[in-house]
Amino acid sequence: MCGIVGYTGHRPAVPIAVKGLKSLEYRGYDSAGVAFVQNKQLTTVRAEGKLVNLESKLEAMNISLATSCMGHTRWATHGAPTERNAHPHKSWDESLAIVHNGIIENYQELKDLLTSKGYGFRSDTDSEVFCNLIAEGVKETGSLEKGLSWAVNKADGAYSVLVMEESNPCVIYGARCACPFVLGVGQGENFVASDIPAFLAYTRDVVFLEDGEMVRIDANSWTVKDAHTLTPIEKEVHHIEWDVQAAQKDGYKHFMLKEIFEQPRVVKDCLAGRVDWQKQIAVLPELSTMPVPKRLHIVACGTSFNAGQWAQHLFESWARIPVTVEIASEFRYRDVILDEGDVVLVISQSGETADTLAALRIAKERGIPVVGLCNVVGSSIARESDITVYTQAGPEISVASTKAMCSQMAVLLLMGLSWADRKDMLDDKLRREMFDGLRKLPEILEAELPRIREDAKRLAREYSTARSFFFLGRGVGYPLAMEGALKLKEISYIHAEGYAAGEMKHGPIALIDPEFPTFAIALNDQFFAKVKSNLEEVQARAGDVIALTNPNSDLSVKHKWVLPEFAYPLSSFLVLPALQLFSYEAADYLGKDVDQPRNLAKSVTVE
Ligand code: F6R
Repeated sequence: MCGIVGYTGHRPAVPIAVKGLKSLEYRGYDSAGVAFVQNKQLTTVRAEGKLVNLESKLEAMNISLATSCMGHTRWATHGAPTERNAHPHKSWDESLAIVHNGIIENYQELKDLLTSKGYGFRSDTDSEVFCNLIAEGVKETGSLEKGLSWAVNKADGAYSVLVMEESNPCVIYGARCACPFVLGVGQGENFVASDIPAFLAYTRDVVFLEDGEMVRIDANSWTVKDAHTLTPIEKEVHHIEWDVQAAQKDGYKHFMLKEIFEQPRVVKDCLAGRVDWQKQIAVLPELSTMPVPKRLHIVACGTSFNAGQWAQHLFESWARIPVTVEIASEFRYRDVILDEGDVVLVISQSGETADTLAALRIAKERGIPVVGLCNVVGSSIARESDITVYTQAGPEISVASTKAMCSQMAVLLLMGLSWADRKDMLDDKLRREMFDGLRKLPEILEAELPRIREDAKRLAREYSTARSFFFLGRGVGYPLAMEGALKLKEISYIHAEGYAAGEMKHGPIALIDPEFPTFAIALNDQFFAKVKSNLEEVQARAGDVIALTNPNSDLSVKHKWVLPEFAYPLSSFLVLPALQLFSYEAADYLGKDVDQPRNLAKSVTVE
């Protein structure tokens, strides 16, 4: 993971790099650092912990002269999250410095080689090995460009790396292999970063760098070459539509809260141009060239996996497509059976999740078409999929994913309707219910969210001392329960398990006692009676129950949390923010770092 940014131009560079790092902190926040040349000396300033610690160090220094700078915010992989292991790393001879995102897999072998040549090491990181390897490359080849290429040809693993020399700080080189990297093209200034928000305040013109590419920037020019052969590569400049505003908090206390409240707009944007309201059909031009899959393998991680499990119900029941849903880190190491007519659907908000990307590549190697459902435009998964469908959620900054899942569900629902239609399987009643419901959904959601938040606040406070929680559901309520549990544990650190309600009595029910509450999804749908009897089993063991339910439901539990009734499965779009807000309010009440929970990072670009 980690976030990196490089700037060279006409302005004081260090504040620009620090500002860039602020927008990349979601990628890791174990430590941060910058490198620049001041008074002809390559200087690095690094601090353990969040960016504010680095900022306080920089405040005490005069840093206004440097017009080139590289910055790094770290999610530790090799070596503890200490200042000693923080980036940037300087080479042993202090001639150059690097910032690195990724993992150098053969670092031990390279370290032995470099040690035998007299290099020393000041940290425990694979990145410092890479740094010395580049310095050795410069020695061998006589230039930074050739030296970086030399090093890239020797290093195995994943990286986006930036490097700057003391002797020529106005030029920054970078190289990419399996980690995100974008070039920002400005006027008299250029940027390279892990993600667009790092330079969005200065330019919206970007070049997406590919694996195996090397970039060179100075204030007035940029070039891209093949990192291995140094052959020049022509690249297209893309203009990004979203702006800085979309990447700011807009008066909300946390990005997570802002993003939860954006969901009515997200649903609207996902539907825009994808529904013919008159004919009541879903229009997904991206999928029109592909036959309806005979069998679908959905592959994803975390919240995106939960969205995939949710969609399985719709694809199977509406379009009669057999569906498997797999965690990407398992899929990639199983000898999966993929046949002609199968399609792999990978779901990823960031489009950079290493395991999901690996699964995509396996499917492609096996000749299986891959559809990528992504949020981040130009991300690796978006670019490598045979067909990419974008979710239109806009930038998601909070580490805990919220609006992205809502957008994934909206687009997956349209996919299900479209495939069912193409197989002539969509009955009139379902068509009417879905399209009438979808039309009203953004407005209902908008109207309900403030009240849902109030309920969430009250309940979260009451249960904030709980040590553990069960989340139960059936049908689409089961993946939603999984998501509720994931959200609660990741931001409030309260232990939570998501279970299929009917599975409880096969073991987990042993945990139920008055101190172990259960959060259930018990809506007025075809599963209501079954969930109700599962909750009676819980209550018979003195377990406390909060149930998300609908008006007039025949349910006797400690807390009935009533949501307006809505057609199945559209009710999920109300359940989801209720679960998200419950976790949000619990975490906020407990004083946790909601947007940047401990040990996590937004985009998981390592295995
Ligand atoms: C949870 C969360 C993670 C991600 C997972 C996959 O709130 O954010 O579980 O959903 O890391 O990320 P993407 O969707 O970017 O592939």
